[in-house]
Amino acid sequence: MTTRSAVLHSPKSATGSLRVNGGRLWRSLMELAQIGATPKGGVRRLALTGLDGQGRDLVVGWLKETGSRVEIDGAGNIFATRPGRDPAAPVVLTGSHIDTQPSGGKFDGNYGVLAGLEVLRTLNDAGIATEHPVAVAIWTNEEGSRFVPVMGGSGAFAGVHTLEHLLQQRDVDGIAFGDALKDIGYAGDAPVGGRALDAYFEAHIEQGPILEREDKIVGVVTGALGLSWYDCIWTGQDAHAGPTPMEARRDALRGASRMVEAIHALAMRHVPDGRATVGFMQVSPNSRNVVPGLVKMTVDMRHPSDEHLATMDCELRDAAAVIARDLRLECNLQQVDHFPASRFDSSCVAAVRAATRALGLPHREMVSGAGHDAIYIARVAPTSMIFVPCKDGISHNETEDARPEHLEAGTNVLLHAILARALGSRVTSDSSGTEGG
Ligand code: GLV
Ligand code: MN
Ligand code: MN
Repeated sequence: MTTRSAVLHSPKSATGSLRVNGGRLWRSLMELAQIGATPKGGVRRLALTGLDGQGRDLVVGWLKETGSRVEIDGAGNIFATRPGRDPAAPVVLTGSHIDTQPSGGKFDGNYGVLAGLEVLRTLNDAGIATEHPVAVAIWTNEEGSRFVPVMGGSGAFAGVHTLEHLLQQRDVDGIAFGDALKDIGYAGDAPVGGRALDAYFEAHIEQGPILEREDKIVGVVTGALGLSWYDCIWTGQDAHAGPTPMEARRDALRGASRMVEAIHALAMRHVPDGRATVGFMQVSPNSRNVVPGLVKMTVDMRHPSDEHLATMDCELRDAAAVIARDLRLECNLQQVDHFPASRFDSSCVAAVRAATRALGLPHREMVSGAGHDAIYIARVAPTSMIFVPCKDGISHNETEDARPEHLEAGTNVLLHAILARALGSRVTSDSSGTEGG
C-alpha cells in the first residue's frame, strides 16, 4: 500500500497536513438528527427506545462501511475497530453517546460519535496505517434521563457499577434496562470492559457559554466537576381542597416547593463553582382539588471540589430535615448516583493541546461542567476531551446549535490527538524520516 509506506518513511509530512471532511461530518450529523427529530429542531431519542435502536442501526451501518470490526458488549456499548499494524497494541479509542435528553439537541454526544466516524473515514481516504488499532465507541445511556446511573454503559465498562446492577435498573414506567436493551437488539455478547486501551479522547460541544464568550474554538479539557444525584420523596396526606382547613394540611408539594428554593439558596452559597438543580417533579395525585400527599423530585448537585460537594450534601440533608419538621411531612432523600471531581491524564491533555496549537486554533483550558463518558473511562485509560463552542452556551435544549466550521475544527484536533498516540513510538519518534517498516 503506497500511502502506508509514505507514512512510514515520512510520518510527520504524511499526516501533519491531513484534515477531516467537515461537509461529510455535518451531513452525517443532520441525517442522524432526523431520527427522533422534534418540531423545534431538536432530538428526542431516549436510551434504549426504538428510536435509539434506529439511531444505532444507522451509525453502525456507517461504521461497518469503514471496514471496521463492530462488536457489542453486554451493556449495549458498541465498538468499531480499525485494525492497526500491531494487532496486540492497545487501542486508541474515541466516542461518546447518541442517546438524548427528552428535549435534547442534535449535537450533545452525537458529535463525539460522528467525529470518531469521520476520523476513521479520513484515515481510510488517506490510506493511513496506524500502529495501534483506532476504535470508535457508542456508550449506552450516557444521559441518565431514562435510567440511572448516568453514564451507565461507560460506568459498567470501567467497573464503576456491575453489569447486573445496570441491567436491573427500571425507568419510570417500570421497564428494566436489560429488557429494553434486548428489545432493541443491542444486548451483545462481548465482555463488558477489560479492553486494553492506550488512550481515550472524546469530542463534545461545551454545553456552556465560555468558549463562545471568549471567541475560542477549542476547549482543552483538563477534568470535570464532581456530581451527586438524589431522589427525594415528600409524603404528606391527600386531602380535599375545600373542606380541609389550611392549618390541618400536610401538603407534600409545599415541602417540595420550599426544597426547590432551599436548593437554589444552597447553590448560591457555593457560587461561582457550585451548581444545584431540581429538574424532575411528579405530583400525586395531581388533581386540581386535592391537597397533594406525595411528591417525587430529583436533585442534581455539582462542584469541582469534592470537599465542597460533601458540604453541599450536608446542607441538602439539613434543609430537608428542617422543612419536613416544619410542615409535618416525611422526607426520604436518597443519593442515587455520585462521581467525584476528575482530572484527566496529562499526556492526553498534552496531545490535545499540541494538536490544537499545530492547527493554529484559538483555545483555552477548561473543566467540564457536564458529565461525560470520558469521566468513567478516565479510570481505566489515559483520557482527555476536546470541547467546541455551542450557540449561546445552550444544551439539553432542542435549540442546541453549533457551527459546522467549529465542529470540523474540533474533529481535526481529535484526528491529530489520535494520530499522536496511534502512529506509535516506532514511527512518531523518528522525525528524520529514515525508519522503515
Ligand atoms: C450529562 O449530560 C450530565 O452532565 O448530566
Ligand atoms: Mn453528552
Ligand atoms: Mn447530555
